[in-house]
Amino acid sequence: MALWGGRFSQAADLRFKQLNDSLRFDYRLAEQDIIGSIAWSKALVTVNVLSVAEQQQLEQALDLLLQQVQADPAAIVNSDAEDIHSWVEQQLIAQVGDLGKKLHTGRSRNDQVATDLKLWCKAQITLLQQALRQLQQMLVETAEANQDAVMPGYTHLQRAQPVTFAHWCLAYVEMLARDETRLQDTLTRLDVSPLGCGALAGTAYPIDREQLAEWLGFAAATRNSLDSVSDRDHVLELLSNAAISMIHLSRFAEDLIFFNSGEAAFVELSDRVTSGSSLMPQKKNPDALELIRGKSGRVQGALTGMMMTLKGLPLAYNKDMQEDKEGLFDALDTWLDCLQMAALVLDGLQVKRARCQEAAQQGYANATELADYLVAKGVPFREAHHIVGAAVVEAIAQGKALEQLTLAELQKFSPVIAQDVYPSLSLQSCLEKRAAKGGVAPEQVAAAIEQAKQRLC
Ligand code: ARG
Repeated sequence: MALWGGRFSQAADLRFKQLNDSLRFDYRLAEQDIIGSIAWSKALVTVNVLSVAEQQQLEQALDLLLQQVQADPAAIVNSDAEDIHSWVEQQLIAQVGDLGKKLHTGRSRNDQVATDLKLWCKAQITLLQQALRQLQQMLVETAEANQDAVMPGYTHLQRAQPVTFAHWCLAYVEMLARDETRLQDTLTRLDVSPLGCGALAGTAYPIDREQLAEWLGFAAATRNSLDSVSDRDHVLELLSNAAISMIHLSRFAEDLIFFNSGEAAFVELSDRVTSGSSLMPQKKNPDALELIRGKSGRVQGALTGMMMTLKGLPLAYNKDMQEDKEGLFDALDTWLDCLQMAALVLDGLQVKRARCQEAAQQGYANATELADYLVAKGVPFREAHHIVGAAVVEAIAQGKALEQLTLAELQKFSPVIAQDVYPSLSLQSCLEKRAAKGGVAPEQVAAAIEQAKQRLC
């Protein structure tokens, strides 16, 4: 029977029931609903709705239900209850009889669902932060093992200046570290309890909402009941956190897909995260990475979808808001899976150093070095830039690298060029010169690895 049967003389149309029911996805809030219900039963003692003995009986029954739910969460969906809140209440009444019917006094599913979802979000944030840290740790380990793997760095997907594989790894550590702090910021704002706000106007029982919030592990109770039951900012923020981080993972995936291509061949992916072709026997496809890149799309979609759902909703609760869960659950599951998958990809990744080095040597990645060399000899940078451009054109015409031009050939572009130009054109020198904070110089990278390790330990 529905929770609201008294007002109705006709049963709901089955098609409406199917559209309206949310149990098939909100069963995931079962633990939170039970924990919230236990706290609410304690609050009802303080306002003399329940006796201590009654509360203990309810709490025992709810504890038992919690154990059942933890053992087999999916079993819940076999019920035809409308949603998880109705389900918990039904189960309670089945266990303890009429006493179970007292639990909903002064409470609404509106403050209940808001509370359950916030509790669920808090638990999820912990899991996501752990996964973000594990991936950062894996990136730092990969960086440590590849400090001397020189490869081309790109802008516009044109070889620009040499970098190291370690430096590339650390770039992603920075992105993920920001994702971690974004989650922390989100947590700070969402950590206020809506329980005790009733349907929209507050509860009619003089409950100490701050104490209730504390029992549930929230930092405080919310300040306005209308806002409390209609606020889904935390859903938007988490979806936004997920969307941004999935963009990072998508770029990570794209970089590695390119590095793994036959054209670049800088890395080889492990068999554990690749698949073959049903037709072409030679193929080893980077499916894990392509899926990370592809799944980033649905997460962006979930964020947009939720923003559109909330836009223009009148205060306070509206059933539209039931649409918050599927997108959020899917987006956060996807994000967590992709973080774990990215770590697995790094686990078996092989960097092909000789090939990376060879590519770094091609493509005139040391042209800036030649310009800096001229600057050191007193040529203004703009002029030096022009001179080197002309030298590159000549080198391309001869099919040579800059350092393969003879001194006489180089001097045609500028008389200040001397024999000492050659060491400054080496890859090593290109790297070593970039020793200001955040640069690719080996000592900077080593220091960055140390700092990241300390932060992550
Ligand atoms: N299943 C609902 C949801 O997820 C619970 C709240 C229902 N409230 C109501 N007044 N119908 O939003």
